[in-house]
Amino acid sequence: RKARVLMDRDFAIARTDPRLFGAFVEHLGRCVYGGIYEPGHPTADDKGFRGDVLALVKELGPTIIRYPGGNFVSGYNWEDGVGPAEKRPVRLDLAWFSTEPNSFGTNEFVDWCKAADVEPMLAVNLGTRGGEAAANLVEYCNHPGGSAWSDLRRSHGWEKPHGVRFWCLGNEMDGPWQIGHKSAAAYGPVALEAAKMMRWVDPKIELAVCGSCGRSMPTFGTWEDTVLDQTFDHVDYVSLHTYLNNYRRDSAAFLASPDLMDRFIDEVVALADAAAARRRSDKRLMLNFDEWNVWYRTRRNRADRVKEGWPVAPPILEEIYTMEDALVFGGACISLLNHADRVKAACLAQLVNAIAPIMTETGGAAWRQTIFFPFAHMSRFGRGKVLRIQVESDAYDTTYYDPRGPLELTFPIANVPYLKMAAVAGEAGTVSLFMLNRDLNQEIEVSIDARNFGELAVVDAFQLRHDDLQATNTRDAPARVKPQPLRGVSIVGAQLRAVLAPASWNVVHLS
Ligand code: AHR
Repeated sequence: RKARVLMDRDFAIARTDPRLFGAFVEHLGRCVYGGIYEPGHPTADDKGFRGDVLALVKELGPTIIRYPGGNFVSGYNWEDGVGPAEKRPVRLDLAWFSTEPNSFGTNEFVDWCKAADVEPMLAVNLGTRGGEAAANLVEYCNHPGGSAWSDLRRSHGWEKPHGVRFWCLGNEMDGPWQIGHKSAAAYGPVALEAAKMMRWVDPKIELAVCGSCGRSMPTFGTWEDTVLDQTFDHVDYVSLHTYLNNYRRDSAAFLASPDLMDRFIDEVVALADAAAARRRSDKRLMLNFDEWNVWYRTRRNRADRVKEGWPVAPPILEEIYTMEDALVFGGACISLLNHADRVKAACLAQLVNAIAPIMTETGGAAWRQTIFFPFAHMSRFGRGKVLRIQVESDAYDTTYYDPRGPLELTFPIANVPYLKMAAVAGEAGTVSLFMLNRDLNQEIEVSIDARNFGELAVVDAFQLRHDDLQATNTRDAPARVKPQPLRGVSIVGAQLRAVLAPASWNVVHLS
């Protein structure tokens, strides 16, 4: 196959916000305990932070990390996780049917963020609690001192305020599985009052209100209308979540599924702007795509989500990612980049062990899953101005299956270009190309007309592919799937040519 691309340095979508390259740490399975935090592990420091995991996190390159949930936050009392460790209560976590020891909490998380060189994004509990507990947490974290909650923080050993800027007003409140699930009409006032009180404590914070946790939710659209009409003036972002699946073992449909993320983003933008239009407002809400990933193998079967007997940090949601998953994941990265004008924050869900790019053995090794690589490429090479490129590629039609509870939903996707692509112009004349060949059998010969860039040369070119689309990385074979050099990229003047192998993720960095 052949594809033609036109890009012009002056035609841009927007600059990527550094927060686009975020991730997510939830008290879920072995994400915290046995993941980022494992006192006694041979690589752990005096705070119990695993050094091998920290090194992989730095290589992965997330910029902001959402915490502490997810479903977990909707039943969480943040006060349980602060203060002397021996006095913290052990609780049953009703989100994941685990025992929560509370040895890791907000202060440890903020310290871990410093060690990982990332910004913290905190979510507050609007499931079982409300504005008062949320505002108290803002005061505990961000107020310098001289008030009960801020002095409590100081008495716990954190003299300086944490200065947490980004806050989520609950999690997936539209989902019936959520602790304290609410209708949009009921959630709106709770989010509004929490937002007001939190910002009265600290006017510098940025607030994200819950949108829909999936495009196939029956309330998608009406949820945003109702919630945004109530909260519009008090929030900065609306959230959205997507987990892509291949339940049907239909690779072509799976590879097309990131295009539904594009559609979902466009629809949420339309809903947010309609809310603005209804109040004749110039304000534009931005999007916080605060959970996205591939997830299906460990999703629908209860035994993968719940281990009986209320264990601490059970091995749940430990999805083992394939080469094929990495391709779809790369497609999702391209969708995010191409919406840099409105998606200003996004969180890969999650970071370690639970549906994660990094896997660990408790007490043992840590390694990179297949999806690690497209994310690391996006974070490393995706900083700058995303270009409004024109892609001419053959396309196909398919149907994607996305069940929601008992509903067997299918979504036709028409005109899926085999080549999915984003281009980002960096500082000092660099440009990075992210190219996904979705054809399972044929190469694509891509020719790119790069206008207004002057002389370009290839600095780096990588390809991620494997003869076996089901290949995975494991503890014993941690590098079965890994990027290889992409050979044969040629550039003459402003004309670039590259041949992309079937079913491959490709990154070319030019300067
Ligand atoms: O990331 C796993 C779970 O998926 C989160 O806890 C929840 O928000 C979503 O349903």
